[in-house]
Amino acid sequence: MFALCAAGVVGLVGGFGSSEAVASPVLGEACVKKGRTRKVGKRTFVCRERNGQLVWVNKKAGSSTPVSSAKPVPAIELNELVIGTPKIVIVTDSSGMKRYVGLSRTAGGVIAFDPKCTHLGYQLEVSGGEWYCDYHGSRFDGGTGSVITGPARTSLRRYPTEDRAGTVFVTI
Ligand code: FES
Repeated sequence: MFALCAAGVVGLVGGFGSSEAVASPVLGEACVKKGRTRKVGKRTFVCRERNGQLVWVNKKAGSSTPVSSAKPVPAIELNELVIGTPKIVIVTDSSGMKRYVGLSRTAGGVIAFDPKCTHLGYQLEVSGGEWYCDYHGSRFDGGTGSVITGPARTSLRRYPTEDRAGTVFVTI
């Protein structure tokens, strides 16, 4: 089942032409209408097709990759992760973008993944301790990110992690 935990705060922002608060999009998150834009602070997100799927991307970069972000940011408290039970959290990167990050605690430490299927980029879920894509059924090892079942053939992308006094930081 899908386990989603918001480590970062899912911000509500205004300023979209109405007084109603609108949820800030997450890079790579599914969107509905191609070409729709959302302005969050100084950044603009646009809904574009990527690998047959409509997702939010940076308008400037034209991709779901942030313009630049190389600084470690806090993702989760270590004691919130249980060995054998991966989680997907929302992390605010150092440029202020909200991103999904997959986290898995192993005997050797915490491993962070980009929780996107390496087949066509669909958002992954956690199922039975594994990363699962319900688009075409690919499964990835929960601890290593390696492919268990295709059609995906490439392991999940990893992000560097570090433990700072019990808080897991990721560089995304
Ligand atoms: S997009 Fe994940 S299996 Fe095809």
